Amino acid sequence: MSGNARRHTLAVLTIVALTSFQAALAQAPAASGNAFRDNPDWSVTDGALTTQSTPKDRGLVTRATLADSITAFEYRAPAGARATFFVQGRYAFELVGNGNWVPFSLRFRAPRFDPGYNKLENAFVLEMHNGADLRRNAIIEGPSTGAIWGGEDRRGPAFIVVQQGPFAVRNSRHDGADFEQVKLPKSSGGETNEKELQDLVALGKNTFTQLGCEACHLVEADSAAVSSGPNLFGLFRTDPRNREVVEGGEGHRFQIKAGREYLHRSVRAPAEQLAVAESGPTKGQPYLPVMPPFPRETLSDAQIDAIGDYLATLNEPQHRGPLTKLATLAPSAPYDPLADAMQ
Ligand code: HEC
Repeated sequence: MSGNARRHTLAVLTIVALTSFQAALAQAPAASGNAFRDNPDWSVTDGALTTQSTPKDRGLVTRATLADSITAFEYRAPAGARATFFVQGRYAFELVGNGNWVPFSLRFRAPRFDPGYNKLENAFVLEMHNGADLRRNAIIEGPSTGAIWGGEDRRGPAFIVVQQGPFAVRNSRHDGADFEQVKLPKSSGGETNEKELQDLVALGKNTFTQLGCEACHLVEADSAAVSSGPNLFGLFRTDPRNREVVEGGEGHRFQIKAGREYLHRSVRAPAEQLAVAESGPTKGQPYLPVMPPFPRETLSDAQIDAIGDYLATLNEPQHRGPLTKLATLAPSAPYDPLADAMQ
């Protein structure tokens, strides 16, 4: 091969490599609804993660490291192929191939520990669907055989480990939940108090819409739309962040922690501390005091907290609150910054 021809071949190869790299990047959104980290043993084909081999490593690992969680995905494998889903890397669910896409979903409550790491409550499955297989309120006494880790913990990532490939996974989600108030059944399959509880995140979202908060507040990241109030995406994080405000009359500027206390004050007495614009043409200037105060007759403290549970979901994954919180709409507990920071 002449020097020219070699250079030409190299250039073509580079272009091919770049193009397939870009194609891989372009394909990434096709795997949207992908709860798992990239893994070289798995490729993205038609929006599904597929492995031909039988990986000896950990297989797919979720991006999120969670305590209580809600998982959903579909899997497909030929008869004879199989894998195991380990929630928290410890509790196993067998995934057996039958040639079709099989839906799997799980609502899982993590084990509870005291500060000295003594286990107070076993982990349990609120509900699991695996194809036609259904399990409810099943207590899990300890890690399954073949688990990644022997001991138990408050939280952990989930895995799919393939025993016999090929295996494909699509439409995966693995989201944080809060099942703190769901009581363990007395024995596996027994009733829990779940019917007495409601999802406060959903309730908060409804309340937010019904009271017309949406008329002035955007809730999507980087929304180009204009509104009279601040965009609330990324404001209330599980690890509260600082926020600049201007105190009403004197125009005194300072930073406050955007936690539950700030939420309650913003809703009850919006004009007391005016939020300063963090972006856009009015960046650095306080917003106008146009938000009406919402008194207790219109909105209870507990409803504000439910709105807070909803607003905490409006974040990038690392700062996001649980997407589901099963609880009673009790009178608000006094604000506890320590508990807030530890969530
Ligand atoms: C008429 C428009 C309007 C309505 C309706 C409204 N807000 Fe506001 N809101 C504003 C404006 C303007 C600000 C910024 C000035 C201030 O801090 O009072 C604000 C500030 C806030 C803040 C602080 C934001 C930040 O970035 O620090 C929160 C939280 C908030 N509103 C929540 C709500 C909730 C919850 C509702 C519904 C119950 C609601 N707002 C209804 C206009 C509105």
